[in-house]
Amino acid sequence: LAAPAQAKPEADVVDIAHRGSSGSAPENTVAAVEYAVDQRSSFVEVDVQRSADGELVIMHDVTLERTTNVEEVFPDRAPWNVGDFTLEEMRQLDAGSWFSPDFAGEPVPTLREVVEALGPRTGLLLELKSPSLYPGIEAQIHEELSSIPGYMERSLRTGRLVVQSFDIDSMRTYDEIAPEVPVGLLYGSQPTEEELVEASTWAEQVNPSYRVTDAALVERIHELGMTISVYTINSGQLMREYINLGVDGIITNYPGVLRDILEHR
Ligand code: G3P
Ligand code: CA
Repeated sequence: LAAPAQAKPEADVVDIAHRGSSGSAPENTVAAVEYAVDQRSSFVEVDVQRSADGELVIMHDVTLERTTNVEEVFPDRAPWNVGDFTLEEMRQLDAGSWFSPDFAGEPVPTLREVVEALGPRTGLLLELKSPSLYPGIEAQIHEELSSIPGYMERSLRTGRLVVQSFDIDSMRTYDEIAPEVPVGLLYGSQPTEEELVEASTWAEQVNPSYRVTDAALVERIHELGMTISVYTINSGQLMREYINLGVDGIITNYPGVLRDILEHR
């Protein structure tokens, strides 16, 4: 008889703060990153895009109105695309008040500011959001991260940097530019067997929605030598379920809840 499948020891599950600790602070801000660092999150996930003047900025949506007061500050600039605003213009925005008055005035951060806010033991899961809008962003990100003294060498040595995207071509490009940096492929629906086999020849991670993740998918990704982190799980019950399924990481708005589960089981 085959031995029953072993659940991965929960200590091995990586806790990843989604958009920073975005259940407790405004997403994709330095405040949310600092919150995650304080909660001893293993990784922080943020989304990177590019401003009109070529600066790498942290923002989830491709437009600014959901998470800033851009409609008030620049009422004539609809549809408020991230890529139509300079960094200096974005700096005039309040990216905190929509979440809570406690965070009034929290700015839209740059990639560099987020990296500088990471603790020495906090990893970065960097999502390239809609990279086809920003030609050349893969090389630019790699250059920016490489220009931060000691950061790239330290992160690669300790496994604390992963780039990921729903845009598979962009990740291919990134892998060609910097094969030493681990890449993750995001999926909102189940990847096909062909996609998985192809991905396994160059990608390190497959990171799907938990909604499309089952035991067979977890097993197949592991057989192919990749890891799987699922997004975005916010309830303790679901966290336990997916830990038992054997995922390698959980992306959550509530990293404190996950850390508590991982430490007290
Ligand atoms: O890390 C994966 C997750 O962030 C993907 O979804 O929309 O939150 O960027 P989204
Ligand atoms: Ca994301």
